[in-house]
Amino acid sequence: MTVTDPQMTMRAHLDAVLTRARARTTALTDIADTELRHQHSPLMSPLVWDLAHIGNQEELWLIREVGRREPLRADLDELYDAFRHTRSSRSGLPLLDPDQARAYTAQVRARALEVLEGADLSGDPLTDRGFVFAMIAQHEQQHDETMLATHQLRAGGPLLTAPPAPSAAGPVDACAEIVIGAGEFTMGTTTDPWALDNERPAHPVSVPAFAIEMFPVTNARYLEFVTDDGYRRRELWTEEGWAHRVAADLTAPQFWERDSDGTWWRRMFGRTVALRAQQPVVHISFHEAQAFARWAGKRLPTEAEWEKAARFDPATGTTSSTRYPWGEDEPTATQANLGQRHLEPADIGAYPDGASPSGVQQMFGDVWEWTSSGFHAYPDFTMFPYPEYSEVFFGGDYRMLRGGSFGSDPVAVRATFRNWDHPIRRQIFSGVRLARDVA
Ligand code: AVJ
Ligand code: FE
Repeated sequence: MTVTDPQMTMRAHLDAVLTRARARTTALTDIADTELRHQHSPLMSPLVWDLAHIGNQEELWLIREVGRREPLRADLDELYDAFRHTRSSRSGLPLLDPDQARAYTAQVRARALEVLEGADLSGDPLTDRGFVFAMIAQHEQQHDETMLATHQLRAGGPLLTAPPAPSAAGPVDACAEIVIGAGEFTMGTTTDPWALDNERPAHPVSVPAFAIEMFPVTNARYLEFVTDDGYRRRELWTEEGWAHRVAADLTAPQFWERDSDGTWWRRMFGRTVALRAQQPVVHISFHEAQAFARWAGKRLPTEAEWEKAARFDPATGTTSSTRYPWGEDEPTATQANLGQRHLEPADIGAYPDGASPSGVQQMFGDVWEWTSSGFHAYPDFTMFPYPEYSEVFFGGDYRMLRGGSFGSDPVAVRATFRNWDHPIRRQIFSGVRLARDVA
């Protein structure tokens, strides 16, 4: 009989998750030094900053905090503290050069894996069931998604390649809806070992009946809004949204281009491609999502509605799933378009295997979905392990996004995972799914 030590299994799992993150970081930074050092957009850090910041965060938490070892490079803490320098000023700092940044992150990783070998993964809340190691893997993957957004903003020919995202097997009704009956469900989690502080604790939320669309809004539907003068009709926008629309001169989603024949194209990682009709629209701000919803006669879902549509099982009347509709296992290639496997959202109807218990599809992967909710702590929130992950952002000028995009890794996406950004941001892989009240 083989006896498997649960801590050994957990260590191997954490090692795999950390290794997967590093493979992605390496792929995104395996480009010319000039590209890594360049400020591709005032909204983004130079890629070489993200690279060393990933290593520095790992040094702080795994080497110094958990491992109780001497600092490797305490002199780097200030340079790579995200709160000290704005993104647009980082290219002017005396940053590590690309080879130094690679060597530093590799050295940190080698020691972090030694710390993992010897760590007790039970008891202390920081290391219990591998929490802080998973937190660091999630942090790296979040920066990998940010780096992918930097790649999208970069001028010049393609540097990244991936196979095209799949399409549906048959015809799909882009406006199909699912009605979710009134009632309580469990929002957030107390038990998920890798959930971050803002997802905790589990708490009951009563949600009135609502309808939610089965799929994210497609390019074809969004184009109708554009051609119906959606960007010029003041009444479709909130006051704040309209002010931004005018100031930023928004006329279509970011990276859309219309040629002299009136044909629409989309710039994608250095290539220009024809707009794919059934593909979820991506690179829209909260304000655009909201104006589109008003034009369509609907609204954005709240965070609670989104999470109920993802987790609540109407057949049993319970909140059955925690991490994913199918349980705790990471998504397979037929359940969701995640992990930068494809560098675009997949057409609606391409992932019926990933449907929620209520029958809502493509909630995970493809595009982050704007919700109407601001960023607030759940009742009985406890900051853990540091205030700068979530707490300092509570109550700020943010809207919540749910579900993850094609650029998100499965380890960084859960039914309870909460993402947020300013309502004007659209360099992120953001789209929208509509909802409405039902009587
Ligand atoms: C949770 C995606 C909003 O990128 O600003 C990275 C994640 N926090 N480093 C961000 C994060 C610290 C964060 N988001
Ligand atoms: Fe960070």
